Amino acid sequence: MSVFYDENANTFTLNTDNSTYQILIGRYGILLHLYYGEKTAGDLSYLMTYNVRGFSLNPYETGREFSLDTMPFEYPHYGNGDYRHASFNMKNADGVYGCDLRYKSHRITKGKYAIPKLPAVYAGENEAETLEIVLADEAAGAEVTLKYATLDKLDVITKAVSVKNIADKEITVTKAYSGALDVMYGDYDAVYLPGRSTGERHVKRVPVSPGSFSFGSVRGNSSHQYNPFMILADREATEDKGSCIGMALLYSGNFKCEVEYDQYRKTRVSMGVNGELFEYALKPGEVFDTPELAYIYSGEGLTVLSQRAHKLIRGHICRGAYRDAMRPVLVNSWEATYFDFNGEKLVKLAKDAAELGIETLVLDDGWFGNRTGDATGLGDWYVNEEKMGEPLSATVKKINSLGMKFGLWIEPEMVSEDSDLYRTHPDWAFTIPGRKPKMGRNQLVLDFSRKEVVDCVFDQIAAVMDAANVEYIKMDMNRCLMDIYSAAETRQNAGATMYKHVLGVYDFLERLLGRYPNLLFESCNGGGGRFDAGILYYSPQIWCSDNTDAIERIKIQHGTSFCYPSSTMGAHVTVSPNHQIGRSTPLKTRAAVAMSGTFGYELDPGKLPDAEKEQVKQQIKDYKKYWSLIHRGLYFRLTNPNENPDFAAWEFASEDKKEALLNFVTLDAWCNPPVFYVKVKGLDPDAAYYIEGKEKTYTGSALMNAGIPAPYMKGEYQTWQIHIIQK
Ligand code: GLA
Repeated sequence: MSVFYDENANTFTLNTDNSTYQILIGRYGILLHLYYGEKTAGDLSYLMTYNVRGFSLNPYETGREFSLDTMPFEYPHYGNGDYRHASFNMKNADGVYGCDLRYKSHRITKGKYAIPKLPAVYAGENEAETLEIVLADEAAGAEVTLKYATLDKLDVITKAVSVKNIADKEITVTKAYSGALDVMYGDYDAVYLPGRSTGERHVKRVPVSPGSFSFGSVRGNSSHQYNPFMILADREATEDKGSCIGMALLYSGNFKCEVEYDQYRKTRVSMGVNGELFEYALKPGEVFDTPELAYIYSGEGLTVLSQRAHKLIRGHICRGAYRDAMRPVLVNSWEATYFDFNGEKLVKLAKDAAELGIETLVLDDGWFGNRTGDATGLGDWYVNEEKMGEPLSATVKKINSLGMKFGLWIEPEMVSEDSDLYRTHPDWAFTIPGRKPKMGRNQLVLDFSRKEVVDCVFDQIAAVMDAANVEYIKMDMNRCLMDIYSAAETRQNAGATMYKHVLGVYDFLERLLGRYPNLLFESCNGGGGRFDAGILYYSPQIWCSDNTDAIERIKIQHGTSFCYPSSTMGAHVTVSPNHQIGRSTPLKTRAAVAMSGTFGYELDPGKLPDAEKEQVKQQIKDYKKYWSLIHRGLYFRLTNPNENPDFAAWEFASEDKKEALLNFVTLDAWCNPPVFYVKVKGLDPDAAYYIEGKEKTYTGSALMNAGIPAPYMKGEYQTWQIHIIQK
């Protein structure tokens, strides 16, 4: 039993293999947080101190018994006497803000709860247990159910909240986070993943200090700039030791993470749908569901935390036929042809690719409507046969006859003003009546909060997929939301409409997966602008970044790895010099970096010199050989590429410690350099190992404690990739 209620102590305890989370039904039914950390037995309610402080408020029932803004709350909300960041706020029909939620009931069940219309961690009946605690404020008209589930083996605890209107008039939810964590004492760092377009998820670590710190998105997507993931790490925690708690929000829209360090040195971290712009009206009886927040615990440092997050995402968030399967090596047409292709050219591309061992051709942007460039055609999801020179089915048949699969790019949420769809339904795009909208990449966003809009786009795309053998979809989103006005709403609220838009996107994805269960699905958002645990419920991989420069990618993939596994990171070999930044790198290095994700090429293979063609053939064989290690093994960050200017190193090791793949890339060119040593991780210290192709034997302890010298390699950005095998 991993969840239990102690009726004497009035505590709920949630245990995983290595962690404990404890909640107290405090005096007067106030729900308080006691502990989250290393697995700990017993009643921890002695940790709670009830102090009276000046300029603090007390519960009505008590007189000056204890001060509310000093207490660690389980679900902090505005109106209960706490002045720190609230996770929940509401207003009643008269416009009065706030509520005071008290314990009402609870329920413990086997298995894992699901959330209507939203992605959620899934687990077998015996893999998880669920706790639901109902809080209520009858006078305010709100009943709030806090849902928790434990996944013991993974050291994961999930949270989600649903808010029900129990009044006889409308209430409005103005903030409803998925969860908060109040920590009573200690010094912590926040580790998070800020970035920018073409420079996503560069890891950053900052001390949690007095005041508050927050990051998030109001762009309608989870964004290039901030990722809905953070780690609260002990100040002393490193890759290899110390306690840390990861928090991943399964949501692809506006979000916020707030970290507050208060006057009494308590830390609060909360995350959920961004409360900015947000007002969600609930009629009597209606319910609002928050997205899910997954907590991952490690008492052994950041590497183990990431490895547990990877297992959670791979086995309990990603779904579909390709969840565990080897992904085909693909060639994507974007950097190979951009908009300049036709059926014949694509078949030639496929033929040249097939000769090298590439297995899928993905036709990127430009195949539909009047899509001659980025200003036209979005919304008209029918094949431009004039451009293609033949029906898509004919092109696909030729490609399939080469033994290649075929994939297609779509951008369903978007519309160009110059499109039949926009001309027919101008009110389907987000624009404010009487005002000119802001444009992004010359396009507008469709209002996916409206079912008829989703239906229309879905039907068009399904018709294309039904007519040709499309086995792979890359779904893009190339601008952010603004000018939010929904013609379907009687009362406008940008935040609520953007939340409903995200539900519409999830509905679209669910329909797609339901109708085409064998589809390999990759999502994308102008690169990695929607790289979150929510979208991974639908697509097992995401295009990591539009920046395909191998050296820049090392940093992006390094940051991404803190939460997301290699099996989710779309990564392609492109030409040198790189199209985005103009840097030249060896083909071997480009392949080693791309191989650490879902591997593919984004170039014209026919234009490669013969020697490079041979290299590509070998790279594809290598990828297949190492695939299981890379996609199922344990990932180790051996250096921090943001700090080490000399070289970057990372590693994949099998859980049984039988083999490891070490990747080492120099970040500079040297004359007469020092020798660089790398300490390998994840081996059996007592076992003997050799490097494939070499005679010498090493002990695991030697490779891990003393390390191994990297060879001198002349020139910039050289790669050393070795396969370490147990004897
Ligand atoms: C975005 C994607 C690219 C490509 C283009 C096509 O930028 O990230 O990979 O698909 O759109 O327009």
